[in-house]
Amino acid sequence: MLKDEHSAAVVDDLGLGAPKPAVPPNEPGTQLITAEQFILQQRMARFPTTSGEFSWLLSGITLATKMVAAQVRRAGLTSLLGSAGEINVQGETVQRLDVFANQALLHCLGNRGNVGVLASEENEQPVIALQDPEGGKYIVVFDPLDGSSNIDVNVNVGTIFSIMRRDMSNTSDPGADVLQQGTRQIAAGYVVYGSSTMLVYTTGDGVHGFTLDPAIGAYVLSHPNMQMPDRGNLYSTNEANADSYPEYCRRFLHWLKSGEDGTAYSSRYIGSLVADFHRTLLKGGIFLYPPTSQYPKGKLRLLYEANPIAMLAEQAGGRASDGQNRILDIEPTDLHQRVPLFVGSRYEMDRLEEFARRMKMR
Ligand code: AHG
Ligand code: MN
Ligand code: MN
Repeated sequence: MLKDEHSAAVVDDLGLGAPKPAVPPNEPGTQLITAEQFILQQRMARFPTTSGEFSWLLSGITLATKMVAAQVRRAGLTSLLGSAGEINVQGETVQRLDVFANQALLHCLGNRGNVGVLASEENEQPVIALQDPEGGKYIVVFDPLDGSSNIDVNVNVGTIFSIMRRDMSNTSDPGADVLQQGTRQIAAGYVVYGSSTMLVYTTGDGVHGFTLDPAIGAYVLSHPNMQMPDRGNLYSTNEANADSYPEYCRRFLHWLKSGEDGTAYSSRYIGSLVADFHRTLLKGGIFLYPPTSQYPKGKLRLLYEANPIAMLAEQAGGRASDGQNRILDIEPTDLHQRVPLFVGSRYEMDRLEEFARRMKMR
């Protein structure tokens, strides 16, 4: 093949040539659609007068998480492994990469202009980023680095984010607007830093996955309209805590392992919520972090772990509850409040809640 024909074929492969009819994104000749472009197209379709503000906000998240991904990929070569020598508001040892990721998100979102309040797992109080009192209509709540205990052993970690609107009439205490029910989220998502780096988000119009293409430094649409299977054959929980789970959970796990319903379940547990959920989203099954003796209210945080994960699960056809209540219906009382989290396919979630009802949450 002549050189220029070859290069023309490469340009075509990347979909950079003349527009082609839309084809499934992992076929040769695929249209290359970036996350920012996709969200702009989605918003234009639903809100024709959209100002592109949301795409601009999302570009703050994509930029920050690309910075984190670059550090995660070379963590062993830089001084970013190990503890930062601090204890955070959660009473947990802060890893250097927690600090880096937190700073990256605060910086990249703080200068968007349309983000008025930022709340992070790593900051005791929300950060007010109002450059103009009339501006900053969005709130972003985030877990900058999820699965910190896995950083030093080169296991998947992630970033989780939740986006809400600010009450623009509340100019006295914008930080208080953070405490909104999960149903009020206008978008939610995560980035999983795994064998590839993937951004998965929803704006209430399905769940879409974008893989970071290091060759061009862009998140490219790779998994449009992600649907969680109606049932699976995997369950995910930290079995070391199982003896202290409520009785209905122990009975449910015993039933799951018995194979009574004809399914031989396997156990998978990575210890990073983002990675354990990402697998559940793709393969189905159920993830459980029930109340334990160490965390009687559950370990995971409502606002920047459970709520965004719950919105994604429901948008993909799954369910998320605290064993009794739909996660998205819980009224928050504190930025860092913890909840039990059960999330997964409809079938397994229905079975779990049957046990909870039968055992009256014992
Ligand atoms: P983070 O690193 O943001 O504190 O989150 C860790 C969480 C979550 O990622 C994971 O599901 C859970 O901790 C694992 O807890 P255990 O180690 O107690 O199983
Ligand atoms: Mn976390
Ligand atoms: Mn974290």
